[in-house]
Amino acid sequence: MKAPVTVVGLGPMGSAMAATFLRNGHPTTVWNRTASKAAPLVEQGATLAATPGEALAASELVVISQTDYKAMYDSLDGADMKGRVLVNLSSGSPDELRRAADWATGNGAELLTGGVMTPPPGIGQPGSYVMYSGSEATLDRHRETLRELGDATYLGADVGLSNLYYQAQLNLFCSTLIAYMHSIAMLESAGVTAEQFRPFATETVTSLGSDGPMGFLRIMAEEIDANTFPGGENSLYMMAVGADHIVETAEAAGIDTLGPRAMRDLFWRTVNAGHGADGFSSIITAIRKS
Ligand SMILES: NC(=O)c1ccc[n+]([C@@H]2O[C@H](COP(=O)([O-])OP(=O)(O)OC[C@H]3O[C@@H](n4cnc5c(N)ncnc54)[C@H](OP(=O)(O)O)[C@@H]3O)[C@@H](O)[C@H]2O)c1
Repeated sequence: MKAPVTVVGLGPMGSAMAATFLRNGHPTTVWNRTASKAAPLVEQGATLAATPGEALAASELVVISQTDYKAMYDSLDGADMKGRVLVNLSSGSPDELRRAADWATGNGAELLTGGVMTPPPGIGQPGSYVMYSGSEATLDRHRETLRELGDATYLGADVGLSNLYYQAQLNLFCSTLIAYMHSIAMLESAGVTAEQFRPFATETVTSLGSDGPMGFLRIMAEEIDANTFPGGENSLYMMAVGADHIVETAEAAGIDTLGPRAMRDLFWRTVNAGHGADGFSSIITAIRKS
């Protein structure tokens, strides 16, 4: 007999999670503000709780996947949650998560938080993972069930950590892909298609994580942690001039220039603060702001 689990929130993500628990044989109770979204899951064997209180009563382990943390308060405030382990996998700011942990404790429950590193179709598939923070002992107690969603990566006792990492990852993901779209739009001005550019973009993005001379994820991490930013053969001044050319090219292409201009401004602020002869990683000093 697999452990019972309750899923609160049946958007694309919560529905994929509930379907995964069901497929793996967990007795699954679901609740959603809009009850009709539960219909396909009930067909697959889920129990639809009539109220949030009924959903909480059904299982010790309660997985929450909603738009934000406000939705959790709107849904569960006033319901009896004593002895429950709430695993909220929704997006929020770290401080919001810390406040939510106090709210859960005040109601006799415990909060684990998580950041889901896959879109809904990846839930339960190889390569997907969820970053958790909160009590490691509590995670370990429910690890076998939560493992159905993807690898369970533990980050630390501070419940805010899961979404600090999650927002960091999402920032990297979104800003990389927005830069990709700016690059595509620039090339479109000369009739180049996104598909023609894709092999070049793939080379750049994959090499950043490599151990080669373009392996800037490792190179920058080492320099930033050591707080030394050697310029070598690639001075920041030379790159700032190059950033000017990116903006000029975007302007000439008639595309949106907000992203390229924000990037150029960072280069020049760092150069003007005295880092012109240093390397690319010295931009961290302008980003840190302190
Ligand atoms: N989708 C992805 O690719 C993805 C990937 C990684 C992480 N995530 C995270 O996973 C979470 C869920 O994702 P999703 O795509 O399912 O998002 P979503 O579509 O925004 O989630 C909708 C769910 O939140 C509920 N909800 C929203 N406001 C509510 C409120 N005030 N009271 C009660 N219920 C409320 C909705 O109820 P109703 O049905 O009644 O409207 C529905 O169950 C998000 O925090 C998201 O950041 C998503």
